[in-house]
Amino acid sequence: MKVLATRRFPGPAWDELTDVEVGTVDAPRPDVEALLVANEEVDEALLASLPSLRLVANFGVGYDRIDVAACRARGVAVTNTPGVLDAATADLALALMLAARRRIFEGDRLVRDGGWTVPWSAGPFLGRELTGATLGIVGMGRIGSAVAQRARGFEMRVLGVRSREGNLDEVLREADVVSLHVPLTAATTGLLSRERLALLRDGATLVNTARGGVVDEEALVDELVAGRISAGLDVFVDEPRVPERLLGLPNVVLTPHIASATVETRAAMTRIVVDNVLAAERGEPLKTPVP
Ligand code: 8YV
Repeated sequence: MKVLATRRFPGPAWDELTDVEVGTVDAPRPDVEALLVANEEVDEALLASLPSLRLVANFGVGYDRIDVAACRARGVAVTNTPGVLDAATADLALALMLAARRRIFEGDRLVRDGGWTVPWSAGPFLGRELTGATLGIVGMGRIGSAVAQRARGFEMRVLGVRSREGNLDEVLREADVVSLHVPLTAATTGLLSRERLALLRDGATLVNTARGGVVDEEALVDELVAGRISAGLDVFVDEPRVPERLLGLPNVVLTPHIASATVETRAAMTRIVVDNVLAAERGEPLKTPVP
């Protein structure tokens, strides 16, 4: 099977691909049968330039930039990498909670900038504990559940919001920390609207390791600039663009979409991508077709 990948994916499974090219589609490619992407846009125009395509294998669980309906209409299967990145993503969500609540990066910056001049002082860097705090988890799928499991280790009170349940506003009002774990779909775009962000308690922390588009980014930036809440953000609406106004703020921790970025998890993701290609080659059922 002729495979075109937008990049080389990490880990040993990659070497099992026998006919793979790394590149972009600049002109029609009638030879390409499988396309490997990292949630880059797959739209009707791209599909039209790949007439022999049978498989789009996404390196990632979220496939919001892939037009699945257009793929289906052309008989192109779509796969993703569910399951293997739950732990890494949940770990980063907890790390962002701790970093934001305990002001880790503010402290780090002070030390590096030579601003640590008294050995100990009671005032600065008072943060808030995770222990005993109320955590609202928006999206209680695999990743949300992995976050809940970790939160219990911190003795947090966990309030889960399952999709299509009506308790989101109530959870936003009550939580000290809110962590987002829903996929980006038409139903979740802008789910945390300006009005909903206003429901967050003063001093609450919002953590987003899902997709930037789940939140009204402009409204979130306004809340952060006002200093009313804090945040840990791994995802943004228009990556790699990060809203300029966030860059100087002490109350937000920013990471460049790295929730699944561990050696172990990325290798496991590549394993699934390659297994899907191999299954397609053999005419066997795909390992993880998108629902
Ligand atoms: C990837 C992700 O880094 O799985 C996801 O949905 O966002 C990340 O694991 C991203 O999809 C790029 O491949």
